[in-house]
Amino acid sequence: MTQRFLITGGAGFIGSNFILSLLAKYPRIHITNVDSLTYAGNLENLKSVESDPRYRFYRAAIENRDAMMSIFDEAKPDVVVHFAAESHVDRSILDGRPFVISNVLGTQTLLDCAKVRGVAKFVHVSTDEVYGTLGETGVFTEETPLAPNSPYSASKAGSDLLVRAYYETFNMPCVITRCSNNYGAYQFPEKLIPLMITNALYDLPLPVYGEGLNIRDWIHVEDHCHGVELAVEKGIPGQVYNLGGESERRNIDIVKQILAILGKPESLITHVQDRLGHDFRYAMGIQKARKELGFEPKYTFEKGLASTVEWYLNHESWWQAIKSGDYLHYYQKQYGEHV
Ligand code: NAD
Ligand code: DAU
Repeated sequence: MTQRFLITGGAGFIGSNFILSLLAKYPRIHITNVDSLTYAGNLENLKSVESDPRYRFYRAAIENRDAMMSIFDEAKPDVVVHFAAESHVDRSILDGRPFVISNVLGTQTLLDCAKVRGVAKFVHVSTDEVYGTLGETGVFTEETPLAPNSPYSASKAGSDLLVRAYYETFNMPCVITRCSNNYGAYQFPEKLIPLMITNALYDLPLPVYGEGLNIRDWIHVEDHCHGVELAVEKGIPGQVYNLGGESERRNIDIVKQILAILGKPESLITHVQDRLGHDFRYAMGIQKARKELGFEPKYTFEKGLASTVEWYLNHESWWQAIKSGDYLHYYQKQYGEHV
């Protein structure tokens, strides 16, 4: 691969894993990473590549058209891979505005810049949450109607529709991937798995929403990154590809599994008020990606969870710095001083 990539949101969880993986695999690649460094952006994730001549970082907000046009002019990308977004459902319930600005306006601005400058492929990284919620049975397919339930998922659905519109109206080479819940290295400890691991390590309560019976379909971040790479290589413009790990788990079972791995007591589990509008179940049908992209998740959930716990054990200074700052105040505001 000798292409020039413009990657947005590359200082976040999935974006940084994607950048590290591409640089490790492709000696002749060029990557420009654009990230505004919100609370979720962390350049520590990319410390090992910051002086790599194949990599450049620009701090900019994707909704800033002038800044983005200059970056396109300097980077001259063949491919855009768009990860940048406000990503946390609970934050969107507290305040939806940054979600509309980054996810909707930001995506439209980025599409406009790519249209004016011209790119060979634009991959938009989206989520299963745009489909809404499932009952006890069935899976989401690419034909499932969009029915988002949270301000976050509504803003992602809005961005998906803009991507579709730029394909239909301007014939732009846009591909959309929609993925299920990710876990793995560098995930901000506000999301379920890293929150539970890091709280358990400090013997803090583990806040489980409601009874913990909601179900998510978990995928290791490296499998997701591989799926996005396949979409860059083989995705057909105008198409949507679902990605997932075919690993459905109830939240409460994951929390108990983490406690068992760490040898911590289940008495740390604290049932707290349920999330407003909490989607019951997600499950991704991935037959299309399997058949048309050759996508196959490699991690079992058990192997992925064990290696993720190991990663957090070995990177305490990374998450300790986060937990002592903004994040802690956020959770204390929601759940009280005990978190
Ligand atoms: P994250 O919150 O860890 O990272 C998001 C990154 O985007 C951060 O570095 C942040 O600074 C940057 N960013 C936010 N707003 C920006 C803006 N306006 N301009 C420039 N940069 C901005 O999120 P993540 O979990 O890595 O998710 C990445 C993408 O994948 C998102 O689009 C998300 O919707 C999607 N996704 C995530 C999951 C998941 O389980 N985490 C699953 C499916 C899809
Ligand atoms: O499905 C893909 C989506 O997965 C992505 O699009 C989002 O960016 C990502 O944040 C994630 O959304 P979720 O809301 O599913 O992830 P979260 O880790 O916040 O919650 C997972 C489940 O765990 C959910 O049912 C709520 C529950 N939960 C979460 C937290 C943070 C708890 O019970 N307690 C918690 O403290």
